[in-house]
Order: sequence, then C-alpha cells, then structure tokens
Amino acid sequence: MSVSAAAPGRSVCAPLPVLGRDVTVPLVTGGEVTYAALDYAASAPALQRVWDDVAAYAPYYGSVHRGAGHLSQLSTDLFESSRRTVAEFLGCRPDDEVIFTRSTTDSLNLLARALPAGCQVFVFATEHHASLLPWRGAQVTYLDAPRSPGQAVDALERALALRGPHGPALVCVTGASNVTGELWPVAELAAAAHAHGARIVLDAAQLAPHHPVSVRDLDVDWVAFSGHKLYAPFGAGVLAGRTDWLHEAEPYLAGGGASRRVTRRADGSVDVEWHKGAARHEAGSPNVIGAYAIASACEALTEAGFDTLVAREQQLIRQVREGLAEVPEVKVLSLFGDDAPRVGVISFVVQGWNSSHFAAALSAEYGIGVRDGLFCAHPLVRTLLGGDPQARGECGAPEAAPGEVSLNAVRVSFGAGTPDEHVERFVSAVRELVRDGAKWQYRTEGGRCVPVV
Ligand SMILES: Cc1ncc(COP(=O)(O)O)c(C=O)c1O
Repeated sequence: MSVSAAAPGRSVCAPLPVLGRDVTVPLVTGGEVTYAALDYAASAPALQRVWDDVAAYAPYYGSVHRGAGHLSQLSTDLFESSRRTVAEFLGCRPDDEVIFTRSTTDSLNLLARALPAGCQVFVFATEHHASLLPWRGAQVTYLDAPRSPGQAVDALERALALRGPHGPALVCVTGASNVTGELWPVAELAAAAHAHGARIVLDAAQLAPHHPVSVRDLDVDWVAFSGHKLYAPFGAGVLAGRTDWLHEAEPYLAGGGASRRVTRRADGSVDVEWHKGAARHEAGSPNVIGAYAIASACEALTEAGFDTLVAREQQLIRQVREGLAEVPEVKVLSLFGDDAPRVGVISFVVQGWNSSHFAAALSAEYGIGVRDGLFCAHPLVRTLLGGDPQARGECGAPEAAPGEVSLNAVRVSFGAGTPDEHVERFVSAVRELVRDGAKWQYRTEGGRCVPVV
C-alpha cells in the first residue's frame, strides 16, 4: 500500500487494490459510471492480492487430507498452513484451534451445537441474527439494548450475577455492529464473563476486516468471522478458540474427514470413532481455496498495517458523517452516541423517504451500491428507529411504498479498498437527492423499489 501526502479532506493513503474497481454500471438517466461499492458490511470485494494468490495456486489444486498424489500433498500443506496463518492473525493461544467453516453464521451454529449440557447463554437482543438465533436450543437470556458501552458491561454483570456460580455459561457479543458500526467493549465484557465463570464468543464479522483482533489480548474464548467480509469471497469462514467444548461435542457434520475409524459391530450396525481436533467439525472435502483466500487476506491486511488502514478508514468515516450532518433531513442511527468509536458502517434514515426508494435512486442515478432494510438485526434497527422491536419483517423487505415514511434504514459501508471518490460521490448524491428529489420514477416490484423502465 502506498502512502501519499494527505491533502486537506483527502485520505492519508491509497486504498488497497480490489477487484471490480474499474467496473462501470449504466445510469438510468443515461451514460455509465464506475461502480461505487459501498456495501462492504454485506460482502467486501476481493483484494487483488487474494485473487492473484488463488489464481497462482489454482493449477495445483488437489484434494485435502485424502490423496497420495503430489498436488494432494501440496493442497493439504496449504490448507494446514492457512490454519496457522489465521491463528497468527487472530493472536490465538498455543492450544487454540482454528476450524474452517462456511461463514460466521456457520461458525456460531457450530459452537451452539457444541454447548455443554445445561449451558446458559447470554446475548444482547441487539445482535445480528447470526449471533442472536443459534442459541435457541439452550436457555437464553436476552439483554436489552444498552445505550453506552458501560451500560452493556453493567447489564451483563447483573445478568451473570443472577445466575449464580453453577454450570456452564456462554456470552455471545459482536465486536462491531453491522448497523451502527459502533465498537462494543469486548475486553470488558470478556472480563465480566470470566469473573462469573462464563465463557465468551466474539462475533468478529464486522470487526476483523477493520481492526486487529487478538483472542489473547481481548481474552475471548472463541472468535468467528467470514471470509467474504474480509476481502476473501471464496465460501469459507472461521471459528477459532478453545478446544474442550468442541472436542467433547458430537461432530457438526457426520461424514468422512471427521471420522477416524468406522467399524461394523457383531450385530451388523456401524460404530464410529471421531477425530479430536479441527477435523472433528470439518467433515467432507475441505474448502482449500476458501481457507487459502482467508489466509492470503490476513497476510495482506497485516502487511498493509492496521494502523494505516484504521487511520484511513477513520478519515472516510469523518467525511461521510460530516457530510450527512449537513443534511438536516438525514438521521444517522446510533446506540452509543456520536463520540463512540466505530468502523466504516453507517446507517441512516431520510425524512420523507422510504429507504428502499433512496437506495434504489443512489444505485440507478449515481451508480452507488448501498443496502437498505433491517440488516438481519431486526430488533436493533427497530429499537433505533423507535419502532416496535417485536414487529415482524422480512430481511431487507421495504415496508412502505416509495414516498412514504420509512420503517427501515439505508446503510453505507466501506473499507480498505474504498477510494475517496466513492464516499465523495455518496455524500454529494445524498445532498442532491434530498434537495432535488429523484430524477426518475420508481415502483415497488417483488418487495423492492426499482426504476420504472
Ligand atoms: C455482525 C455480523 N455477524 C454475523 C454475520 C453473518 O455473516 P455471514 O452472513 O457471513 O454468515 C454478519 C453478516 O452481515 C454480521 O454483520
């Protein structure tokens, strides 16, 4: 990553090269523009470095843990060395284990299946559905939305104190909100959990792409994240951390790779001895390209340096927030307030606009890709909008026709690959849309606003 002199209002260094940076898209009003991908929180573009590494390996692709051939050996080595790279990236303890999964959702469901009998789970109702829902088979305490990091720690302390010292317990918490971008006090929550004999899993889906994450420094028991949000969109995710619950649990998937020995009993039935270790929960042929892509992204981010990446992203955040603050019709959603530390994820509503309409106009008239809806965090977004947190709604489905008041929000998100021009275009597009209205007609189709053609 090259570092350039910072002109006033410009970011401190160049963005990391990502795929798709030159892709142009048609505008409904005529002509084409370079696509401004501002939906990193959903899926970030692949780092060029990740793509190049995967392409260089692709001719050598082979089966993992199940082949005698040279390329199988090479692929097995690559898969296992990717595990070590990820462990290093996450600052894991020596006896922690890295399990490759499909995604954060998959990782947290795996852990949910490995909870010891009688385990109590504590989770804030503000979590992304991936961290909120997998525990429903256990005894779950849902904590109300805190209005400051301190309140979050106090609420957890109180809830854990009530449970008494007995039995296993798990706290699940996000590192950075996928709605507000706000950072949660993970180390403090971990200390509170441990003081009460509970364990803690960190949902780092939105944290790991923006910030260094150290399992050891934060003292969390597990961490989960997704490759496709970390510039490595090849279908893999990670669960890393303590081994004991995982080794005691039934394998997440039953099948080859997880089984060490399968035999017939005298009565003809089948008996199985499962692996201990990561293989226990990685049944089936491993996704070596996905794992390698994640490892490549970890190395690329580490080499670029999080200090530089964070400084650059904070400048983009300031630019967007200051730009939005100049538009009185825009209300930015926040749980912890303006001064809370945050990553490049910002959600807002625009007075008089349906969010789906606003997002559709940003796309069709300005070539800007954002997300609208409830962002798979329905209770949190409804709390922030002042709506009924019990209300139902489909993920991303607009709840009002174009022109009506919005019950959902617009989210803009960015990261290491975002050029200054994208956020500048976004801020001026918001200003222009609010001032002049949409230039085009829109209608609702299949639950989404689309330009009338
Ligand atoms: C905070 C958070 N956790 C978990 C997830 C789920 O990630 P995935 O869809 O990759 O499983 C997301 C996805 O947006 C997220 O933002």
